[in-house]
Amino acid sequence: MNAPADLTPEARAALLHALAWQIELGADECVGEAPSNRFEEAAPAPKAPPPEPRPGPRPAPVAASRTPAPAPPKAAPPSHDGAEAVTEARALAAAASDLVALKEAMAGFEGCELKQGARKLVFADGNPAARVMFIGEAPGRDEDREGKPFVGRSGQLLDRMLAAIGLDRRSEDPSTAAYIANVLPWRPAGDRDPTTAETLMLWTFLERHIELAAPEIIVALGRSPGAALCDRPIRITRERGRWISPPRVGGRPLIMTLHPAYLLRQPAEKAKVWRDLLMLRAALDGETPVIEE
Ligand code: URA
Repeated sequence: MNAPADLTPEARAALLHALAWQIELGADECVGEAPSNRFEEAAPAPKAPPPEPRPGPRPAPVAASRTPAPAPPKAAPPSHDGAEAVTEARALAAAASDLVALKEAMAGFEGCELKQGARKLVFADGNPAARVMFIGEAPGRDEDREGKPFVGRSGQLLDRMLAAIGLDRRSEDPSTAAYIANVLPWRPAGDRDPTTAETLMLWTFLERHIELAAPEIIVALGRSPGAALCDRPIRITRERGRWISPPRVGGRPLIMTLHPAYLLRQPAEKAKVWRDLLMLRAALDGETPVIEE
């Protein structure tokens, strides 16, 4: 898009500054040809009909007849508050009998605000029959566009890490395959930190995801997946590189390691991750992991 020719240098600089700020917040896509003022749209239109009662969490089926709509109920329907959304997420997750059903259930779940700011559900990638499941934090911009976890720069590094121990997310053979998911299936707008309420609400989906994929071993990539899987704050630099089996992972061996995005910033830390990967390789080769917790 070309800027109007009569812009002063100050106005041009202010516009560029505002654009940089929007990109920083995560508004990095053009979604329409013309700008639209959402504040004006929200203002009451003078000739609008009286407002409909606020819809509940699920829209009522559209009536086929042309008879006037029945009078609204006396009490307003309950709002879709956090507790209601958690209950709904739990029921949806429990009802999913396989991974396809779980993905569909998550795609239809409207109770989490993260979904409103995301483009795509990022469910998983790789082979669900793999012996190992890798769990990251949350999709970033590239993952949000493609709908797959770890496809950006850190994903490329993760693929190289996997290859170094003979694993490949594209492998059809479960013994050489990898299965990859995230704690959060939607990109937090502007890559903000998710709230505790959001993480708690979505945990039920990851828990069911692990149950249904039933990997032998889980690898937590970084602090936040480690904390979610252990259900406590963790210090990744201290706690990585040992086998644990927190109750949340159903008795499976779990190892935490450093996140690939961190390794891109701190390449000297790769040696530690290499040690963790060798522990994983040894376990896959039949060495019994010594569980420390
Ligand atoms: N970082 C993550 O934790 N997950 C992704 O999918 C991408 C980057």
